[in-house]
Amino acid sequence: MKRIRISDLISNPKIGSEVLVKGWVRTFRSNRFIAINDGSTINNIQAVVDFEKEDENQLKRITTGSSIAVIGEVVESQGKGQSIEIVVKSFEILGDANPEEFPLQPKKHSLEFLREIAHLRFRTNTFGAISRVRHAMIFAVHKFFNDKGFYNVHTPIITGSDAEGAGEMFRVTTLDLENLPKNEQGKIDLKEDFFGKETNLTVSGQLEAELAALALGQVYTFGPTFRAENSNTTRHLAEFWMIEPEVAFNDLNDNMDLAEEMLKYCIQYALDNCWEDLVFLASRLEEEDKSKPQDQRSLPLIEKLKFVVDNEFIRLTYTEAIEILKRSKPNQKGQFKYPINEWGADLQSEHERFLVEKEFKKPVILTDYPANIKAFYMRQNDDGKTVRAMDILFPGIGEIVGGSQREERLDILKEKIKTFNIPEESVWWYLETRKFGTVPHAGFGLGFERLMLFVTGMTNIRDVIPFPRTPKNAEF
Ligand code: 4AD
Ligand code: MG
Repeated sequence: MKRIRISDLISNPKIGSEVLVKGWVRTFRSNRFIAINDGSTINNIQAVVDFEKEDENQLKRITTGSSIAVIGEVVESQGKGQSIEIVVKSFEILGDANPEEFPLQPKKHSLEFLREIAHLRFRTNTFGAISRVRHAMIFAVHKFFNDKGFYNVHTPIITGSDAEGAGEMFRVTTLDLENLPKNEQGKIDLKEDFFGKETNLTVSGQLEAELAALALGQVYTFGPTFRAENSNTTRHLAEFWMIEPEVAFNDLNDNMDLAEEMLKYCIQYALDNCWEDLVFLASRLEEEDKSKPQDQRSLPLIEKLKFVVDNEFIRLTYTEAIEILKRSKPNQKGQFKYPINEWGADLQSEHERFLVEKEFKKPVILTDYPANIKAFYMRQNDDGKTVRAMDILFPGIGEIVGGSQREERLDILKEKIKTFNIPEESVWWYLETRKFGTVPHAGFGLGFERLMLFVTGMTNIRDVIPFPRTPKNAEF
């Protein structure tokens, strides 16, 4: 007999048929009702055993967390909460889970506790739902770009370059740290290292994506990126996944249109394809919000998602945003940790959230930032002070996308890398695309886990990636 997945059974039940279901026991009530989950859906199937007919020692093995195979007849359910159930003809315990030891008992566990048992948290409703939504979002990203004729490119994970120029890189080396080879000047001899030079894990695939875009037209990457920034926040990971489209002949307006369209597409995809999981996550969020003061509560999840899909993002320049922030109540009242006094200040998440959540109450795209607070590759504006940058700010999250039109003019780019102290020989290959057939182009990076935070309504980024990597934490 072939196993049927619980999602298939529930969506297309054949009353009276005999089925084989396999999964993990969530609960076993009254020595009679087994709730089984196999990961295919948030819903459990209820299997009803006749305890008088079964061996007591076998019944004892049906405990939360044990794995089970059940054969039985599909019937309409008498009880509340499910439309069908299985009347058990026979069952087999596939793997025991000692209730004295199994940490996931049917009660509420804190998200902090679940992080410590990340190897088992997939088995909870919350992480089951998040995992399925995560898959759907990965698929939506690829579908969006594929349908538009973009090519997916794999950019290197080990690289010699610092694409963002922020110096937040994880070093990659095979040198023996206890016994480093030295050269004649007494410095570490990098020629002895695996690649014969200094290498690190990539912070962004952008520079290589640009090379591909300047031949293939429109490309995107979707890969892991690594940042050794020591920020222990609810929105930063040391290892995260980023989607980076890059399009030849696009300017910043095209870039904003693409980013807005993509975000809306992915969110709509979740609404269309993850409904049951979203409804579960929405009730989880509502429950969590009950313990928060009124002004810190979020909109109901589904409402929030629909709101973003249905409304145009606000677009304004950094300079306009600074004026708004300067005049804002929290600034005047000294409530910002970083007061906004003058043009040129870098925006902190408190400022971004003020603009999105208080001032506009909509996603905001900020453009044309001061050149010195943005990366070297962004296209310089005629004012000489600002660059064609864009950041998309989302409610509850702050920055979800960062991007720009790229500097395509060789002479200006060369000047720029000089000001940023980037050795020309380290980016010779990047410069050559500006030397040979350069064209205007633009792209952006979407932090996949930040999108996941938004779509699932979770509040800590550690809870939307299976095995988070953060400062002092690389378990599993
Ligand atoms: O703004 P960032 O640093 O931009 C880039 O890396 C560009 N190369 C993108 C491009 O133009 N192709 O990062 C892009 C996005 C951010 O907006 C944020 O969503 C996410 O990546 N991000 C992080 N997500 C989780 N943890 C971190 N430490 C992150 N740092 C950035
Ligand atoms: Mg950024």
